[in-house]
Amino acid sequence: MRYFDDKPELVAAILAKYPPQGRRSSLMPLLREVQTALHYVPAEQIEEIAEIVGVTATEVRAVMSFYSTYSTVPQGKYHLQVCATLSCALAGSDELWDDLCETLGISPGEVTPDGLFSVQKVECLGSCGTAPLVQVGELGYHERLSRQDLHALLDALRRGEYPGPHSPLPVFVHSGQQEDAAGARHGAELKPLGENL
Ligand code: FES
Repeated sequence: MRYFDDKPELVAAILAKYPPQGRRSSLMPLLREVQTALHYVPAEQIEEIAEIVGVTATEVRAVMSFYSTYSTVPQGKYHLQVCATLSCALAGSDELWDDLCETLGISPGEVTPDGLFSVQKVECLGSCGTAPLVQVGELGYHERLSRQDLHALLDALRRGEYPGPHSPLPVFVHSGQQEDAAGARHGAELKPLGENL
């Protein structure tokens, strides 16, 4: 099923941000739109985006391969990325990772039976001073996480009470709200959790 056929205004808005000779630059926001909506980028949407941008599907896959943001396999509603680089490792990210996988009963590439969670180890997320760090999908960074904090976060997500990120991700384009900071968009849905988050 094609994704963008019923979203011509969104496609036009994304393409309008770049000059005709720079149309390839629209690749990233188009990928991000699909990734955010479907929690992965299926092969059909890779072909679709390639067609819109005017490149080959191989070129789209090549771009995707540089970014841990994009996945070609289904992810959970909340894709939890644990930074495993030095500062986070020294601050206990290995223990967080083991605890996370054991608690959820999944490995990378798998999704919990309720469809809520998937996990991934990633390289430095650029917030070494607040290690250890877990990124929750497009929602933002959860910083200086203890195992207790991690469990409180998982419990909150299971209840549908996302407590909000410690730091939001940068601005991106998403259908329905052309430009938006992830934290701001989800801020209206936030519910209080605990003082440790
Ligand atoms: S090492 Fe984890 S954010 Fe840089």
